[in-house]
Amino acid sequence: MDRREFIKASVITAGLIGSGMWLPSCGRRSQSAPKTPLNLPTDGGLLGYYRPSGRFTITAQSSYVEIFSGTQTKLLTYQIGSYVNPIIVLKKGDNFEVDFQNLTGEESIIHWHGFRAEWRSDGHPSYAVGDGKKYSYPAINIIDRSGTYFYHPHPHGRTGYQVYAGLGGMIIIEDDDESALRQALDLEPGKTDIPLILQDKSFNADGSIKYSPMGMNGNMGMWGDTLLVNLTPNPYLEVERRIYRFRLLNASNARPYRIALYRGSEALRFWVIGVEGGLLKSAVEAREILISPGERVDILVDFRDANVDDVLLMKSLSHGLVGQGGGMGGSLINKEFDVLELRVVKDSTYDRNIPKNLSQVSPIDTQGATNLQVLLGMSSGKFNIDGKVWDSKDMLKDYGYNFSNGEVAVIEFRNDTGMYHPMHLHGFQFQVLSRSGSPQVISSLAIDSQGRMATDLGWKDTVIVAPNETVRIAVKFSHNFGSEQVYLMHCHILEHHDNGMMVNYRVAK
Ligand code: C2O
Ligand code: CU
Ligand code: CU
Repeated sequence: MDRREFIKASVITAGLIGSGMWLPSCGRRSQSAPKTPLNLPTDGGLLGYYRPSGRFTITAQSSYVEIFSGTQTKLLTYQIGSYVNPIIVLKKGDNFEVDFQNLTGEESIIHWHGFRAEWRSDGHPSYAVGDGKKYSYPAINIIDRSGTYFYHPHPHGRTGYQVYAGLGGMIIIEDDDESALRQALDLEPGKTDIPLILQDKSFNADGSIKYSPMGMNGNMGMWGDTLLVNLTPNPYLEVERRIYRFRLLNASNARPYRIALYRGSEALRFWVIGVEGGLLKSAVEAREILISPGERVDILVDFRDANVDDVLLMKSLSHGLVGQGGGMGGSLINKEFDVLELRVVKDSTYDRNIPKNLSQVSPIDTQGATNLQVLLGMSSGKFNIDGKVWDSKDMLKDYGYNFSNGEVAVIEFRNDTGMYHPMHLHGFQFQVLSRSGSPQVISSLAIDSQGRMATDLGWKDTVIVAPNETVRIAVKFSHNFGSEQVYLMHCHILEHHDNGMMVNYRVAK
């Protein structure tokens, strides 16, 4: 079936979308499901690269996007002029000045996930504005390192729905390390430096999205039956025999991805070069990575490891990160499926190699640090943090996590539940110190005696904590915003966070 015929067919069979036409476990169908070219950013439209100069307005509103050929799907999206969910490109040192216009029909606010901003500009839910209202963010001076960041809504109780409905996008910060890497490897955004925004969604028969979190109180979170990469179902990408960079952003509500790259049954190598807070010291070779909601992982793939006409498959393998209690949706949750087909279509004279040093990462000095143990638990049907749940009546509640300006803390997350939790801090990046009690899916990826994975290196803002696992991180709470700051600590499974697995913490003036 060629593409034209498929468009016709897909109109007629639009009903199948909702019944799992793309469902990876429906083996026969997914084999024959036609592949679509991966949506790539250009200088406008969907996912376009937007480079702000001066104050600009970003509007959240409903819009129609053709996810499946011939079907217009109603989503909520961020728009800047003709840009839809733009990739915002900033330079270190820039002043980021933005007005948020809310036309979603409900309360909302944008959170700039990963970079340091004073809390009035961070999208704390107490700053949410109603439909038709505007929030003017105080200017944010970009002090963070080059890397792949994330923006998404953060209103109390509705984050899961709004992200799922389409709101969210990538931010790229550039600095000197980034320019050096681009030069060394001849990387070009949108051509050989490619965003991969991973989201799983389910659809109704008419092509509209279907939001139906699973489990008691929706506690399993929202797991879709259709994987979208850059809002493309069943994507493929044509590549040349050279190095490409992929910026993976897990913008899913609840699903972790266990990413590997195959040629037939052979797992190919790739390199982890960056995580949430930017580039690592040097590239780390890997054959598999885990990426949980909120995390970003930058990888390099050298297609000179393949031949022209090879078809490689980026896959997500089953992970088992949702243990007991995962029963009801087990097959939906732990399945294996294709993420991206990579077609090697062209040879090249490319002769670059990965530079030895990518960046500087100095370890946080934890001498004399405060020790804080944080238990991830569950009671009365809700996941909690140290027994605490979010108080929607008192969104500025003091949960007892208070730090002085400049204080270094070692936070030990212990997961006492049957489900994994990607723990996230607003306001500060951290470093992962160690893991213990890890399940095999994590321990098999350990690259050091602390049990860390390649994706635990560098500066992080979100970290996977598996069932029964203990993860220690170091944070230095130092800022010069001139007043007390109120930030959030929460689980990035969005339904957990909406159900209250979130607390404030304060950092003194
Ligand atoms: Cu991306 Cu408060 O989160
Ligand atoms: Cu965040
Ligand atoms: Cu959680």
